[in-house]
Amino acid sequence: MAGGFALATTLLTPRPGRAAPPTAAHAQRIKTLLARMTLDEKIGQMHQPAGGRQKALNSKIDAAALDLVRQGGVGSYLHVAGAQFLRDLQKVAVEESRLKIPLLFAIDVIHGFRTLYPVPLAMAATFDPEAYRACARMAAVETSVSGLHWTFAPMVDVARDPRWGRVVEGAGEDPYLGSAMAVAQTEGFQTKDLAGRDTVLACVKHFGAYGAVAGGRDYDSADLSERTLNEVVMPAFHAGKTAGAGSFMTAFNDIGGVPTTANAALVRGQLRDKWGFDGIVVSDWNAIAELIAHGVAETPAQAAALALKAGVDMDMAGGVYAAHLKSAVAEDPSLLPLIDQAVGHILLTKARLGLFDDPYRFGDVAREKTVMVSAPHRAIARDAARKAVVLLKNDGALLPLAKTAKVAVVGALADDARSAIGSWKARGEETDAVTLLAALKTRLSGVTYVPGAAPRSDDLSGVAAAVEAAKAADVTLLVVGEDFDHSAESRSRADLSLPGGQKALADAVLATGKPVVLVVMGGRPLAIPDLLAKAPASLMTWLLGVESGPALADILLGEASPAGRLPMGLPRDAGGLPETYAHYPTGRPANPDLAQDTARYHDLDIGPVYPFGHGLSYASFAYSDLTLDKATIGPNDTVSVTVAVTNTGKVAADEVVQLYMRDPLAAVARPVKELRGFRRLALKPGETRRVTFKLAARQCAFWEAGRWRIQKGKIELMVGASSDDIRARAAFAISVDGWSDTPAAALLTPVTVA
Ligand code: GLC
Repeated sequence: MAGGFALATTLLTPRPGRAAPPTAAHAQRIKTLLARMTLDEKIGQMHQPAGGRQKALNSKIDAAALDLVRQGGVGSYLHVAGAQFLRDLQKVAVEESRLKIPLLFAIDVIHGFRTLYPVPLAMAATFDPEAYRACARMAAVETSVSGLHWTFAPMVDVARDPRWGRVVEGAGEDPYLGSAMAVAQTEGFQTKDLAGRDTVLACVKHFGAYGAVAGGRDYDSADLSERTLNEVVMPAFHAGKTAGAGSFMTAFNDIGGVPTTANAALVRGQLRDKWGFDGIVVSDWNAIAELIAHGVAETPAQAAALALKAGVDMDMAGGVYAAHLKSAVAEDPSLLPLIDQAVGHILLTKARLGLFDDPYRFGDVAREKTVMVSAPHRAIARDAARKAVVLLKNDGALLPLAKTAKVAVVGALADDARSAIGSWKARGEETDAVTLLAALKTRLSGVTYVPGAAPRSDDLSGVAAAVEAAKAADVTLLVVGEDFDHSAESRSRADLSLPGGQKALADAVLATGKPVVLVVMGGRPLAIPDLLAKAPASLMTWLLGVESGPALADILLGEASPAGRLPMGLPRDAGGLPETYAHYPTGRPANPDLAQDTARYHDLDIGPVYPFGHGLSYASFAYSDLTLDKATIGPNDTVSVTVAVTNTGKVAADEVVQLYMRDPLAAVARPVKELRGFRRLALKPGETRRVTFKLAARQCAFWEAGRWRIQKGKIELMVGASSDDIRARAAFAISVDGWSDTPAAALLTPVTVA
């Protein structure tokens, strides 16, 4: 068929920036199949029904579902799992359907499949892409042995408003950190050979600007400038694509009134034509049908046509392609070649996964019984959990605790195993989780526990006992925050203070005047400025997965020094949101002097309580000898930025060295600082290492008229331990203007340590 032939040729023609072109064998297979497929069978490939629900996987695979598979009416299932179950289901497709095209099986592996590691925002707080890669690799093993081919991760939505509950699923407020974590996850899930052993297809989501929804209200509109869209939102998507991610997912939201699921300029124009992406674009859940609610389609057939024209290959859980695309084609036969393209992307992905060569290569009933929450997998989760903990404050070196200390543990979250494993738990089991309380009981003799209050109750009857326990103890661990279900999808909150009776509990315990360590748990930054001011020591400990307790105990007892860094600032008040460290200077930069008329609130101090990149250590570090190998570089050149870092403390510890840049004078205002490199490194007491960042002029580019402009002039550099703890400064010059084709924050800076 003409469409098929044209497609096959297209697939073989390498386009700029695309992943490795498909092998000739793939293209031949696709051409042959497309020529044989009926329109119904083609539309079947574009249909991804739910095979179950998150809490009841496989539950919808009934006789009718199997018949639809036999008819070639399904391309993929999500919310399914199990090596034997999926082998049997695959068998129906590859042995009982006419064309024997294998199915794709998908699930949300967001921070682990069965061995849950810290939630993504906590993984970002590690500032350790290698730790993230190791976790994703481990998750891919558990996912693929369970017969699954595809995870809907990494979620790369940059977010600067923690009222949005889905901040828990991303890497926080910075596009560069987001790019680094997108690459680490994509490569961890897929390795370099998607058809290799124990891989799963990654899915970069949600394309795009879902993290910018108005007011942090989930599913709301995102209305942002073209500059912000390209400089802040797009980099991590580009980085994920360049890392070879095999699929993308469109988002629920509109951007300035154009729903992303119908946004041809964004999907077909930018992702496909400009970036050369040839994998699968899947809609989000029912998002094609929702084009009617958006008011851009009157009927499901019109919604189907819009999504197809936009470049959406597969309809997740909406059933709109399956039920209405055929009538849309009858109305408009020009859709037929677009269907061939969509099916071509789906078939190419199945070929890349090796499913045509061996449809049963995923799934291993024997290994499925041994790899889950194995000791090596737990060790990977525990290492990541330790690295994710952020020490916010440690006045008087209250931490680490002495092993002989009499410790009162107060707060229901200290023993909440369900919350420890977080939201989006895939096949995770709360019984796998070791809570903080359970871990401390094995490590300390004098532990008392009083729940005191809980995140979902206003009952304060336990506060008195908690106060007594605090008075009787040497030190109290005050464990408060949000539980697993306060954040994630459809969990926007307008009030970011402590939920339930926890604030009263915290105030009462702090009022004892006894030493208190504030342990904050949850999936989002909270606005708790007075608690952070009152408690002499505090930690942001997120939701750390199955090894939450042991990892936290390691930090609290000094087995490991904390080095996590905030991927999002901790706000003073929800009323001050959204906010970011990488803000524009404005014509009236915020001034502490309220007599000055400047860019700030009169009833709120300037900026977050603790900013992006903040995190303390049990050691201390000195930065020295910041040097550049060149004073001036051309637009296609790099400058090597070297700094010496010394552990001036008494204990071995990690430090996260951060490199920020600023363009102080350009054709457009540039942020006061932007992260352009970081490196977490271990240093023994007294040890000095030299860290070198190889920064390219392209990484200083800004969006201008559809391209990336590198402007002649000075670039300021700042190196330090946080976005507001700059230890050394330098500058270089770009000699002449130039142009780049890549989002600046998508380019990761090579870092070497000597
Ligand atoms: C959800 C989420 C998306 C997820 C999908 C499948 O609504 O928006 O992130 O991957 O549906 O569970």
